[in-house]
Amino acid sequence: MNITVTPTVRLAGTLEVPGDKSISHRAALFGALAEGRTEITGFLEGEDCQNTLKAVRALGADVTRKGPGHYLVDGAGLMGLAEPDDVINCGNSGTSARLLLGVLAGQPFWSMLTGDDSLRRRPMGRVAEPLRRMGATVVGRDGGARLPLAVCGTRPLKALHYSSPVASAQVKTALLLAGLWADGPVTVDEPALSRDHTERMLASFGARLAASPGRVSITPGGRLIGQPVAVPGDISSAAFFLVAAVTLPETSLTLKNIGVNPTRTGVLDVLSGMGARIRRESGGMTGAAEPAADLSVSAAGLKGIEIGGELIPRLIDEIPVLAVAACLAEGVTRIRDAAELRVKESDRIAAIAVQLGRMGADISERPDGLEIRGGRRLRGALVQSGGDHRMAMALIVAGLGAEGTTVIEDTACIATSFPGFLPALNGLAGGACAVEQP
Ligand code: S3P
Repeated sequence: MNITVTPTVRLAGTLEVPGDKSISHRAALFGALAEGRTEITGFLEGEDCQNTLKAVRALGADVTRKGPGHYLVDGAGLMGLAEPDDVINCGNSGTSARLLLGVLAGQPFWSMLTGDDSLRRRPMGRVAEPLRRMGATVVGRDGGARLPLAVCGTRPLKALHYSSPVASAQVKTALLLAGLWADGPVTVDEPALSRDHTERMLASFGARLAASPGRVSITPGGRLIGQPVAVPGDISSAAFFLVAAVTLPETSLTLKNIGVNPTRTGVLDVLSGMGARIRRESGGMTGAAEPAADLSVSAAGLKGIEIGGELIPRLIDEIPVLAVAACLAEGVTRIRDAAELRVKESDRIAAIAVQLGRMGADISERPDGLEIRGGRRLRGALVQSGGDHRMAMALIVAGLGAEGTTVIEDTACIATSFPGFLPALNGLAGGACAVEQP
């Protein structure tokens, strides 16, 4: 499916984006491990989170859909999961695969996990290797480092103190979850703080967690009790509209109920540092111990910025669309310390450089990032998402501000994280995007 984008100067109105992907995955999974009922509202009904729902059903949790984004998960309890009778297919979802590996490591039965072409290329050794140290058997392709993988857990798993070489919430979460079935504490040190949704939500379900700077530990032996979870809007989905809003001249946009957990708000810090005016209003906490707020944004002249270090995990998924903002900003933007982008749904460093380069951007690849010399208008071109949802949406945003028509190929992947992206954008941008069947 191709999308044709006609340039526009205006984005106006109010929008609620779908629920946060990371929080939705966790609500479904922790609900399945808990005793009693977890009622989830605002659940993201994108393909990734649907894959987690399918997986927890296959493992014996009872999931009922009550309405759009409204689910009841009746958990199996920590000792109640059952051997799945088929391979669990995680589709495109790295979060499903890695978090499930952590859970399955503590189960005394065999499970098999696979995924789509993109997910089968992505590294799983970062989770499988420490889980093996805890006593789990994880075998499969590439020496047990790529899907498909077969997992057989053991009980109890061994306690572990692990220094993760990467700041990854998926690695951290997998190990903390495995810690629920360990014979002593599991501690994870990370080089920079990655998103902390697990810490917040698992603690609210009753897990015994302790966090200090750079370190989080779980002590087994607690019980998890189902909780209501109200999922706030996904700041990673909001980011496409924030960048479109600041880069299109006649803009006034309000995004309602967006999750503003400080481990996720790097995009707001960077856009503000580039000169954007973003106001937070009506802030409060949601049921998942997560802060949320309305964000109001209007057009602004942008300037280039340096992005690196501890900021990277706070905006890792927003870099494709931030690169679009950087192309339109005056001056140079340098993104460094972001080699993780090479192992996302696609090699996003290469993809950004090649695709935005086709639109006339002055952009060079670095091993761990990008250098973007901004200040020139992009021009419409034929570009490819490479099956990567965030690349597809970033390229659509690039097309809105370009000169001439942009055609983005291979856009069905948008449903991974943001079904309804196109109608939402068209509602605000006066029908700038059209779907064309190839
Ligand atoms: C996620 C963590 C991040 C992020 C991904 C979702 C999560 O990945 O890029 O989209 O929900 O835990 P890493 O854990 O690989 O950094």
